[in-house]
Amino acid sequence: MPKNNWQGQTFFFQNSLVLPNFLFIFAVEDIHSTKNLRHMKVGIPKEIKNNENRVGMTPAGVAELTRRGHEVSVQHTAGEGSGFSDDDYVAAGARILPTIEAVYRECDMIVKVKEPIEPEYELVRKGQLIFTYFHFACEKELTEAMLKSGAVCLAYETVQLPNGSLPLLQPMSEVAGRMATLNGAYYLQKTKGGKGKLISGVPGVSPAKVLVLGGGVVGEAAALMAAGLGADVTIADISLPRLRQLDIETPANVHTLYSSEHNIRQQLPTVDIVVGSVLVPGDKTPHLINKEMLQLMEPGTVLVDVAIDQGGCFETSHPTTHSDPVYIEDGIVHYCVANIPGAVPNTSTLALTNATLRYAVALADKGWQKACRDDAALAKGLNIVEGKVVFKAVADVFGLPYEPLTL
Ligand SMILES: NC(=O)c1ccc[n+]([C@@H]2O[C@H](COP(=O)([O-])OP(=O)(O)OC[C@H]3O[C@@H](n4cnc5c(N)ncnc54)[C@H](O)[C@@H]3O)[C@@H](O)[C@H]2O)c1
Repeated sequence: MPKNNWQGQTFFFQNSLVLPNFLFIFAVEDIHSTKNLRHMKVGIPKEIKNNENRVGMTPAGVAELTRRGHEVSVQHTAGEGSGFSDDDYVAAGARILPTIEAVYRECDMIVKVKEPIEPEYELVRKGQLIFTYFHFACEKELTEAMLKSGAVCLAYETVQLPNGSLPLLQPMSEVAGRMATLNGAYYLQKTKGGKGKLISGVPGVSPAKVLVLGGGVVGEAAALMAAGLGADVTIADISLPRLRQLDIETPANVHTLYSSEHNIRQQLPTVDIVVGSVLVPGDKTPHLINKEMLQLMEPGTVLVDVAIDQGGCFETSHPTTHSDPVYIEDGIVHYCVANIPGAVPNTSTLALTNATLRYAVALADKGWQKACRDDAALAKGLNIVEGKVVFKAVADVFGLPYEPLTL
């Protein structure tokens, strides 16, 4: 009968939806359980690095922590650049502190975005947990300051899942890769120092050629954005399994190439934009284009060195800022902004905190030792603990003693 059939279908439909939802609620409840929690004083300072408008936690994150009994202190106007007012944080249960000094002084766990910079070194306290990006391998001064502070430095960029992926680097890499192509296209304009080419070409005129060095998360995002704009794209990587995967997943205007000096040299005379997106986790990036190789390129070629936060892929790269993003060396435009996602703070803050919140909750609930004991991926984020380098690649780069941690 039609009615019974209809009811039967609805029942079946509801059943097929209810089961996954039910399981999902259980999975989420696991980290949302409020039993046996510690009380943690969590601080969210305002970022003070040049043009950095992201913030370490959204009001949604604050609401989750305060619901679990933690005390969250947010520095006055910390979220303003990302579109969150003090009132939004207060409504989520935070208290507002007037200065950065007060946040560092009164809180035991600091959640932020960028590594502490010089004026913050003195504020970091012994035993304080700092959960943020650090990128120690290319910052000796920062490494020394954090060793001296006696703090526990848990770096977003080295938290690593068993499959090797970096869950707290991934969202910013997805933003930076897309932005790398957009900026490359922008600086390709003649008035910006570029060759004067339109990335997409027009009917009867070929599109620009984009070479992406490193086909990881940044590289794939850059290539897909460039391909979407109609460019002729080549991605080079040293991982053959990765090249195979990219070959299958990317559109027909994306080609793959094994990354060797010989192959890169062959590409350079005809390329318009090069995106540098290589990563050797926790280590300095190899220079895939040296100064002499700049002569192989046409003047006005644009190099976008996304990997500059790890030392850069090009020998001639040095970090730039959003207020002065490019310089020209030997006729080649260099865009080397170390915090590219900072230009789109609303998107970036939401993407980053989507990924960091579950770890911040675990750290606040359990304290860093138990949270890291319970989660090997999180434990890999520990770089410096109370005056000791506990991450081998960082110790090796600076010739410091490596002291493995027993949790
Ligand atoms: N500037 C910024 O604002 C910004 C933002 C996000 C990420 N980053 C940086 O971008 C870089 C890439 O990040 P990711 O998330 O894509 O890393 P990823 O690990 O996903 O990808 C790195 C890729 O580099 C490849 N690689 C290693 N050595 C190579 C070589 N010699 N030649 C070619 N490829 C090689 C690896 O096989 C891997 O596929 C990192 O240094 C990261 O810190 C910078």
